[in-house]
Amino acid sequence: MNRSWIEVDGRVLDANVQAVRQALGEATQPILVVKANAYGHGLAPFSQRAAQQGISWFAVAYADEAVVVRSVAPEATILVLGAADHEDIDSILDARMTPVLIDLAHGHRLSAAAVRRGVRIPVHVKVDTGMGRFGIPWDQAVAQFADLDRLPGLDIQGLCTHFASVELGRPSLGPQQMERFMELRERLGKISRQKLFCHASSSRAFLFNRGWDLDGVRPGIVLYGYGASQPDFRFITRPILQWKTRVMMVKDVPANFPVGYYSSYTTKRATRIATISAGYADGYHRLLSNRGVVFLRGKSYPVVGRVSMNWITVDLGPEGEAEPGDAVTLLGAAGEQSFWADEMAKQARTIPYEILTSIDPRAERIYLKG
Ligand SMILES: Cc1ncc(COP(=O)(O)O)c(C=O)c1O
Repeated sequence: MNRSWIEVDGRVLDANVQAVRQALGEATQPILVVKANAYGHGLAPFSQRAAQQGISWFAVAYADEAVVVRSVAPEATILVLGAADHEDIDSILDARMTPVLIDLAHGHRLSAAAVRRGVRIPVHVKVDTGMGRFGIPWDQAVAQFADLDRLPGLDIQGLCTHFASVELGRPSLGPQQMERFMELRERLGKISRQKLFCHASSSRAFLFNRGWDLDGVRPGIVLYGYGASQPDFRFITRPILQWKTRVMMVKDVPANFPVGYYSSYTTKRATRIATISAGYADGYHRLLSNRGVVFLRGKSYPVVGRVSMNWITVDLGPEGEAEPGDAVTLLGAAGEQSFWADEMAKQARTIPYEILTSIDPRAERIYLKG
């Protein structure tokens, strides 16, 4: 009763995965990005359902996430975008991961670990074309790739990069990054021992630049229903996660009654205040103090007072009906009304990615069958 929970709509999940697949030609693989607990949706159930939909490529940040994906997707290729390193060698081999090499030193460490085991590990090489994060720098990539390609114990199967920004109708670094990547694809293709599987696009590049699909695309946020809502976009997806909790108590209070820490809200009239089980420790952002909205018995009510560690307070108005144990929607829809992570993010001055991935991983993820 105390803890919030997540409901994931399996039918919408399937529709989103199919929308992504159908937007791509035969020659391009969708590589589903399921890091950070599948953006808060539950890594194992999300990946399992996607695998059942025919998805055979996944990308995660860490080796331990790849182990979870392997347990539900026995045949998939699982890329590890962070550094699956020499200390992860056992799980890299057991779970048949494909680490993405982030620099030369990473390649050397992994090569040495593979040689000690007498194995060859499939890897992709990341090129930094302008993100300034992981990857061998594009202007040194030819020499460094040649060094990596000579290392024993590694089987370089792919080449990738990540965009710093992709905008529609506004200047961004994306096109220049793609130019650099395409040139490298050509040059490295000539020195590589095998044909390289090339991938660059994450959600926005995938949505707006069909010509950048290459051999694979790595969508994340669009899978979960954000960023691809406009009818003239390449495809449409819808949010699949609702975040719910319960009313803990309801109290009748007079006018001029202070609510919460530092009394940042004072009632204007006699009203009813409900205390609800969710706070910043559960991932309910503190900037939603006096800004958030919840749905209760089909109606929307404002969050009043400061968000505290485990609870929030909402003003039900003098006629508001609620009792302890009632379900409350923190994120989601009620009839015609909705409050999804993009709207919550605006109120909390952040991005839907942060809203989704901040939800307490201990909250139960319930997959509604459809
Ligand atoms: C390397 C890489 N590829 C793809 C993605 C997916 O990005 P998005 O959720 O914007 O599609 C991410 C997400 O952070 C990433 O780090």
